Amino acid sequence: MTDTATAPQNTPRDILVTSALPYANGSIHIGHMVEYIQTDIWTRFQRMRGHNAVWVWADDAHGTPIMLRAQKLGIEPQALIDDMKKEHESDFIDFQLSFDNFHTTHSPENRECAELIYQRLKAGGHIVTRTIEQLFDPQADMFLPDRFVVGTCPKCGTEDQYGDACENCATTYDATELLNPRSVVSGAEPIKKDSEQYFFKLNNFETMLKEWTTGDQLQSEISNKLQEWFADGLQDWDISRNKPYWGFEIPDAPGKYFYVWLDAPIGYMASHKHLLGDNQAEFDRYWKPDSKTELVHFIGKDIAYFHTLFWPAVLEGAGFRKPTAVHCHGFLTVNGLKMSKSRGTFIKARTYLNHLQPEYLRYYFAAKLNNKVEDIDLNLEDFAARVNSDLVGKVVNIASRCAGFITSRFDGVLADALSDEALFATSVEAGHSIAAAYDNREYSRAIREIIAQADLANQYIAEHAPWTLIKQPGNERQVHEICTLGINLFRNLVIYLKPVLPSIATQTEAFLNNEPYQWADAGTPLLNHPVNKFKPMIKRIEAEAIEAIVSDSKDDLEKEKAATATGPLADDPIADEIEFDDFAKIDLRVATIVEARQVKGADKLLQLTLDLGGEQRNVFAGIKSAYDPDTLIGRKTVMVANLKPRKMRFGMSEGMVLAAGPGGSDLFVLSPDEGAEAGMRVK
Ligand code: 2FM
Ligand code: ZN
Repeated sequence: MTDTATAPQNTPRDILVTSALPYANGSIHIGHMVEYIQTDIWTRFQRMRGHNAVWVWADDAHGTPIMLRAQKLGIEPQALIDDMKKEHESDFIDFQLSFDNFHTTHSPENRECAELIYQRLKAGGHIVTRTIEQLFDPQADMFLPDRFVVGTCPKCGTEDQYGDACENCATTYDATELLNPRSVVSGAEPIKKDSEQYFFKLNNFETMLKEWTTGDQLQSEISNKLQEWFADGLQDWDISRNKPYWGFEIPDAPGKYFYVWLDAPIGYMASHKHLLGDNQAEFDRYWKPDSKTELVHFIGKDIAYFHTLFWPAVLEGAGFRKPTAVHCHGFLTVNGLKMSKSRGTFIKARTYLNHLQPEYLRYYFAAKLNNKVEDIDLNLEDFAARVNSDLVGKVVNIASRCAGFITSRFDGVLADALSDEALFATSVEAGHSIAAAYDNREYSRAIREIIAQADLANQYIAEHAPWTLIKQPGNERQVHEICTLGINLFRNLVIYLKPVLPSIATQTEAFLNNEPYQWADAGTPLLNHPVNKFKPMIKRIEAEAIEAIVSDSKDDLEKEKAATATGPLADDPIADEIEFDDFAKIDLRVATIVEARQVKGADKLLQLTLDLGGEQRNVFAGIKSAYDPDTLIGRKTVMVANLKPRKMRFGMSEGMVLAAGPGGSDLFVLSPDEGAEAGMRVK
């Protein structure tokens, strides 16, 4: 990719930018916002540099979960996705996202593009049909996707595992291999049924993909991961689903639908098409194979496989251009942990907006984001402290220290010279490195360098103390020039922060009687120029606002439970009665977690060393989705001490830790009361 910081500014680039499409069956939360803010900053930056950056995306409106959610709510899927689209779009606008089009994958444009792509893939020999055996729910009268079947792991015997992989031993398998399978939809025992499915022959594109994935389109972490996937072999991809399914029926295959993941990325194209209306020539200019334009995707690390293998192969096979770049980011943790509904840290975008301005979160995420596939943490205390210190205490403070004098002493007009040309030149010079940081998605570096410039400006003003100088007659010109420099340094900071804080830039443009800022404006100071009375642009974050967000997020959970009339008992009814003797066979002991670590290659497991007061056990526990291992060390828990050791893929597991909850981030390791000692029997 070209580096905009070094590319000549007189050659504007045409860049089509996308964010991943949010599913249309749930609200937007601040975890989603990391990506959308990352995309927005980059897109706004490119536009400020004079490039033509167009951001298109959509709701991901198809698939079984959406169909079932609508059923549960007693509405049609169309009504659900219409409501969600409105909700999502208003969240995005209120977060000041500058997208050009937000569409839906359930649209005529997407049907047209998906059908065209499918026809071309078929004509090119990239689609095959094959009969496969799948689980079918006779009660709900539907084939069951893997995640809609639970049963006992065929490898290690752990109960209640999903149809794709075991959370305990990390084995992956076909849903048909589960023992005692049950349908999540009806609870019925599924039967095995043959059906014909349509497969995309990913392997036809191996040579192209091997080359494409080692170019500079991808981050090195992702390229390395891809080498593992290549080593495992590229499997045919099942792109069809049987009815009932909420999606597009495959044109020549009645009762078969495109799998949601086929038409989701095509939604990028369809949203662009919708934006362009009947301007087919412009659409072709972006999507033809030898296009000179750029196609840049922002996505989360969990969907890299789809975007770096399937998507480029589908595009190539259908005669379209491939992405210029796929930028992956990590996940968001809050206070060091996975977002959790019960801790009140699963914060919806709207819940945040009800209490705080979007600028704060935009700034904090920018201050944390880099171009690596690393998770970022929102520490709520640090969030308030950092925003208050940087934005209120440093950046806006410069203007509030200088503007009053300009208004009260100099008729609201800036001086015709700066008190220190060299300091202004330093600020202009810093813009080059800051621009390179934005372009390269190293936003945390951009912010660090901007705040370093704010520190220099504040230091200068403090040293020259215009408030003292002005008391001595004859110092007027000096004070005028100092304050003019201060305002110009402030203006440059605002220009550099504009991709992150567009509304502060708008307020500054109004305050300084300026046109909307472009990046290059930072090079020329405002001299002999009228300015308006300064009004504070941003308030401090108060602790109460953050407390209210956490408390409302806990309420959101309650409301959600009431709306869908489910809960732990409804989701997971109490099992059949057992005799006391059965219970007495289980030897439960208090244990101290003395070590906890990640297990290489395991998606769900942590490896724990448990101390039973003299004896240590190695246990693999499926709690990775809810715990950072470091937070477990030193804590007491309860374990099944007489469970027969089981050989797992990663080693021997010598017992089991007790945890409650539905899964994901909502898993809670049990702890005894204070005073319990390791080794004590639980009776
Ligand atoms: O993982 C998700 O949330 C998907 N809805 C992302 C789709 S991105 C693109 F492929 F459409
Ligand atoms: Zn297993």
